[in-house]
Amino acid sequence: MKDPGLAGARVWLTGASSGIGEAMVPVLVDAGARVAISARRTEPLDALAATHPNRVVVVPCDVTDRAAVAAAARAVIAEFGGLDLAILNAGGSAPFSAAQFSTTPFTQVFGLNYFGVLHAVEAVLPTMQAQRSGHLAVISSASAYNPMASLTAYGASKAAISYTMDALRDELAPWHIDVSVVCPGFIRTPLTARNGRMPFLLEPDEAARRIVEGLAARRPEVHFPRRLTWPLKLVRRLPGPWRRALLRRVAPRRTMLD
Ligand SMILES: NC(=O)c1ccc[n+]([C@@H]2O[C@H](COP(=O)([O-])OP(=O)(O)OC[C@H]3O[C@@H](n4cnc5c(N)ncnc54)[C@H](OP(=O)(O)O)[C@@H]3O)[C@@H](O)[C@H]2O)c1
Repeated sequence: MKDPGLAGARVWLTGASSGIGEAMVPVLVDAGARVAISARRTEPLDALAATHPNRVVVVPCDVTDRAAVAAAARAVIAEFGGLDLAILNAGGSAPFSAAQFSTTPFTQVFGLNYFGVLHAVEAVLPTMQAQRSGHLAVISSASAYNPMASLTAYGASKAAISYTMDALRDELAPWHIDVSVVCPGFIRTPLTARNGRMPFLLEPDEAARRIVEGLAARRPEVHFPRRLTWPLKLVRRLPGPWRRALLRRVAPRRTMLD
């Protein structure tokens, strides 16, 4: 059954060439949306578009390139004649080592997970403000809830983007623009392929279904699996030593790309 929340919606989805983004495309199409998909690699995007003729258009771009994102947003808005929902999902990690501390991984992950999202926000907001309607959704992470040793740079970028989008929500209310922050736990994708233990791991199809359902309902926060995310939310209220002891049981032993 089509979800009335997304029937006919004009959607821009970044990071659609693999993992959670790729899995979201059929769910969005099933919900009745038209979807513009972006990433750097065009081959997987073209293959996805070919399986959904007339419903999916390919607009490749590198989200770290502000001008390229602005051009992609213009192409998406011209194609659809406006934009109802931007799902800013493109993201990734970078190797970090406390033994050889460097700002490089921080610059890399903030360039992608923080400024990559803000480039798209900057590019689509004037259209949504002129429409006096719209919905911005960012795929943050449950790692944003608490500092975790092996997610030092990645988690910081997700905490920063969650903060900014949460803060923007009230500022955009006068234009009737909604903001959703999505915080998934561990999902089996190329990003996490080299992680060790991942509690309550979900498949990308399940993650995609839960995200699209939450966005169709315009929830300000979408978080799952609840058996991981509720404890993480509670743990952040505990005194430091207790919090750190519990988090050591959840954090992946290896970082995403080390
Ligand atoms: N997997 C998890 O457990 C998990 C948990 C919480 C949150 N997340 C978040 O979910 C989002 C999707 O991650 P995933 O797990 O599905 O990983 P993934 O399979 O590695 O997908 C990442 C996507 O982002 C795109 N991307 C990366 N760098 C880009 C750039 N510079 N410009 C444009 N697109 C870029 C990739 O496409 P190209 O390489 O073709 O550009 C790909 O489509 C990320 O924001 C991630 O942080 C994942």
